Amino acid sequence: MTVPLTGRAAAAAGDDRELRAPDPGPGEEVGAGAAPALPWSQRHLLDLDIVSPAEIDSVLTLAERMLEVLERRIARVPTLRGFTVFTLFYEPSTRTRASFELAGKVLGADVVNVSPQSASVQKGESLVDTVRTLSAMEANAIVMRHASAGAPYLAARHSAASIVNAGDGAHAHPTQALLDLFTIRRQLGGIAGRRVVMIGDIAHSRVARSDIWGLTAMGAEVVICGPPTLLPRGLRAGERPEHAREALPPVRVETDIRRALEGADVVMALRLQAERQQGGLLPSLREYARLYQVTAERFALARPGALLMHPGPKNEGIEIASDIATGDHSIIERQVTNGVAVRMALLYLLSGRGAPEAAGGAS
Ligand code: NCD
Repeated sequence: MTVPLTGRAAAAAGDDRELRAPDPGPGEEVGAGAAPALPWSQRHLLDLDIVSPAEIDSVLTLAERMLEVLERRIARVPTLRGFTVFTLFYEPSTRTRASFELAGKVLGADVVNVSPQSASVQKGESLVDTVRTLSAMEANAIVMRHASAGAPYLAARHSAASIVNAGDGAHAHPTQALLDLFTIRRQLGGIAGRRVVMIGDIAHSRVARSDIWGLTAMGAEVVICGPPTLLPRGLRAGERPEHAREALPPVRVETDIRRALEGADVVMALRLQAERQQGGLLPSLREYARLYQVTAERFALARPGALLMHPGPKNEGIEIASDIATGDHSIIERQVTNGVAVRMALLYLLSGRGAPEAAGGAS
């Protein structure tokens, strides 16, 4: 059984056939029916630093239901009918853009992909103008990626639609962090108390920053490891200025990969981000691979049953050895599948169709 939505949400949804599981047991409420109880108060998703653990939990819990939908023979539900999502990617993307597009379509939303490369941006239209234009087309959500840190925050100030940050410069990539959290929780049964080791180009990684916020919020221990030139400054205990907590929560910092890997529950290799590096940070790629590549021999220092993750795209042979990237411990492809479920959950929560006011019948 599902609980019909009421008020505006129901009218927009068009019916009450919401996210019904294949065989719901008697009286069992699933999917959207259970959603009104899930805490969520965000209008936008800009980063995880302002999202509470309870709200993160809402996304992860709902993503489980979304995964059930994805596993159906015909993965389509009308839940977000009448909801319009624009994707606006100023930087290249394969999985993130496709993942949002699929997430929207599975839920019955209209998804419109705008390519700034061939749009009026080329004629000098500003980001604010573009966002206003999409808002005027009744966009409900704009999923954007931009090379400048902070661009989605600017967009959010000028947008009637929900802005979802799909990566802004080296700053944040909150949906990647949410899918990483979801993957860890599913695979290990929980996040609190797990040791997650991130290896590589932390300084330029928006994934690392959002993961650090999300993981610490959910009670994991985070270890970051890389050459000193690729670690953000001021993170080591004793070096941290008073105000640093606002920039990033405390993490353990290691420059020795073997020490970092000992006792890891999760090993996350990160891409060496050549496009964000000013020269001179690395002597050579070969030297980097020699010292910091996640290899099978090094991975063996982690706990038995540890997970190997990578947000993609991978540079095999640089930050990760090819054999281990597709080996038994790798859940890299699982991350991609989970990403669709997590983005479905997020779009759903942002739509307000499960929010407490919808449950209360607000119109
Ligand atoms: C990441 C990104 O673009 O920030 N990729 C992704 O979204 N899966 C990581 C990267 O570019 O290295």
